[in-house]
Amino acid sequence: MKESSEKMHYSKQNNYWNLDGPYSMGRQDYTLFVKHIGNPTNILELGSGESTCQIAEDFPASTVTSVESHPEYFESSRNTLLKHKIDNAEVRLIPIGVTRWKGMTLTTYRLGNLNRKESYDALLVDGPVESVFPRAREYSLYLLWDSLKVGASIGLDDYHRETSKHCAGNWLRIYGGSLELVESTSTFAVFRKNKHSDDVNIKFHDLLDSYRTYIRYIVRSVKNLVKKKF
Ligand SMILES: C[S@@+](CC[C@H](N)C(=O)[O-])C[C@H]1O[C@@H](n2cnc3c(N)ncnc32)[C@H](O)[C@@H]1O
Repeated sequence: MKESSEKMHYSKQNNYWNLDGPYSMGRQDYTLFVKHIGNPTNILELGSGESTCQIAEDFPASTVTSVESHPEYFESSRNTLLKHKIDNAEVRLIPIGVTRWKGMTLTTYRLGNLNRKESYDALLVDGPVESVFPRAREYSLYLLWDSLKVGASIGLDDYHRETSKHCAGNWLRIYGGSLELVESTSTFAVFRKNKHSDDVNIKFHDLLDSYRTYIRYIVRSVKNLVKKKF
């Protein structure tokens, strides 16, 4: 994703949605993701956009659920699905909130309602916006782990960023042998859930880090509010 203040404009040419726009994941990364997901029944995406439409059209036998935290982008994505009569995808407006998990304080999407045991074959992590919600992408996996089937593929976008590398490192350490990195490029990484295990390797510094991240998020939110007001 390239940062830009441009609004989200959906566009499609032939069967190709514009995945190379300023806020989209990029076609190359999309191609790597789909290479690993086989014939999924249920796909979950964090961060809606042109990718939602592309996945739904490329996998007509699958059900795509896309999580969106921003009301404006939720409307755009939902209207685009309606306009193009894409009925195997649904966008869910899910705000960012704070959830306690194994002593950690997770600031990420409120994913409680999506947490159906072992239901998803693939997860694409491309939201929320990292500059506004630090580490929310990393934390989302902790809340979704039980909802992923054994063998599920997890795609992580923006792997060129230090924050994504840090996220990958934490995932692999916390889930140990239950998660492996199967392929990565300079911009995208794909992981696989190898087994269902409740064993997680959480250290004291993870608890502290998550709390610090929560404080950073509060400070950023207050700053943004003040900026908007004046
Ligand atoms: C990287 S975008 C998701 C893109 C989508 N997965 C795709 O590849 O088409 C992550 C989040 O950025 C936000 N977003 C999308 N377009 C934006 C824009 N033009 N400006 C600011 N935020 C945007 C939305 O909340 C979205 O969920």
